[in-house]
Amino acid sequence: MQKQVILTGLRSNSEFHLGNYLGAILPMVEMQKRHAGQYQLNMFIPDLHSFTTPIDHGKLYQQTLQNLKVFVAAGLDIDQPDTFIYRQSYIPAHSELTWILDCFAYFGELSRMTEFKDKGGNNENVSVGLFNYPVLMAADILLYGAKWIPVGEDQRQHVEFTRDLAMRINNKFGDLFVVPEDNAKQAEFVGRSEPVRIRSLRNPERKMSKSVDDPAGTIMLIDNPEEAAKKIMSATTDNLEKVGNPDFESRPGVANLVQIHKLLSPDSQNNLSEMSYKDLKDVVAKIVADFLTNFQTRLAQVDEQQLLTKLEADEQATSRIANETLTKVQKAVGLRPS
Ligand code: ADP
Ligand code: TRP
Repeated sequence: MQKQVILTGLRSNSEFHLGNYLGAILPMVEMQKRHAGQYQLNMFIPDLHSFTTPIDHGKLYQQTLQNLKVFVAAGLDIDQPDTFIYRQSYIPAHSELTWILDCFAYFGELSRMTEFKDKGGNNENVSVGLFNYPVLMAADILLYGAKWIPVGEDQRQHVEFTRDLAMRINNKFGDLFVVPEDNAKQAEFVGRSEPVRIRSLRNPERKMSKSVDDPAGTIMLIDNPEEAAKKIMSATTDNLEKVGNPDFESRPGVANLVQIHKLLSPDSQNNLSEMSYKDLKDVVAKIVADFLTNFQTRLAQVDEQQLLTKLEADEQATSRIANETLTKVQKAVGLRPS
């Protein structure tokens, strides 16, 4: 029997930070380990999705490779035979299927997408690409018959849209597409009721983010470890003195440091609750600096040639699968003889 497909993509338009690492990259690597042998895992870089809002195009190609290296340094096993890694733009079927899907997607439903509204839906000069973003995402998913799409909260709406679109087209043309599971089942599959959300070190009521201009609050994976330790030492806390048992509602800064400690050093025996803030920061600063030093060493050791060889082989293999689906769709809509 064919293995069920888990499919997920992470955009590549800029460097990753600690929030991306702990909230998205590490969970993907863990998912690969958990499901090795049972599922097919499609892990791709949606490079065509990276300029729906303006970027520095001179950096895109290298950034895509660099971000793939981050996955390898984080532990993604590229020799695992059920794991495919690929770049979206290397498989033209993604763009071709998008056009066909466009003609069955409704202007109204796309206008209601939260990400589109948040990123500029009211602006006359917003790109059509941003509007169309979920349709390309639907093509990414439907080409491979993927049932499981582990994404963050902000992308769930796009997965629901993909389901609606697939069912609409199946109703018209027969069972063309595998319909992804609904959001409730997806959440169950990922097995985490509460997604990890690392906070900004400066404004801990907000998430750590590269989209916001907040360099002192954000630890980039390429930060100098000593500089990163300084950012931890000057993290915003509150006016209590002892760590105790902080929650994100009332003491987000301290809760964030405790969370970073737990995720980067799960086996630690440190008793944080008895510590002063100064001691907590010392411990977390050291853990973060050590993590960055190790991570950057592993990153520098990733063999680019080996990665490119794997990418090219997987891009050929996934092109074949994608083209089979595309041909089926072309026949169904009358572009090819049936
Ligand atoms: P950013 O907000 O920095 O632009 P993205 O929106 O590109 O980040 O997010 C890429 C992935 O990283 C998503 O899966 C998102 O859920 C995850 N992610 C981003 N910021 C954080 C954070 N602070 N904590 C946990 N996960 C995060
Ligand atoms: N839109 C996703 C994000 O911003 C990335 C993405 C593109 C994706 N195509 C996908 C994720 C298909 C899962 C499945 O994070």
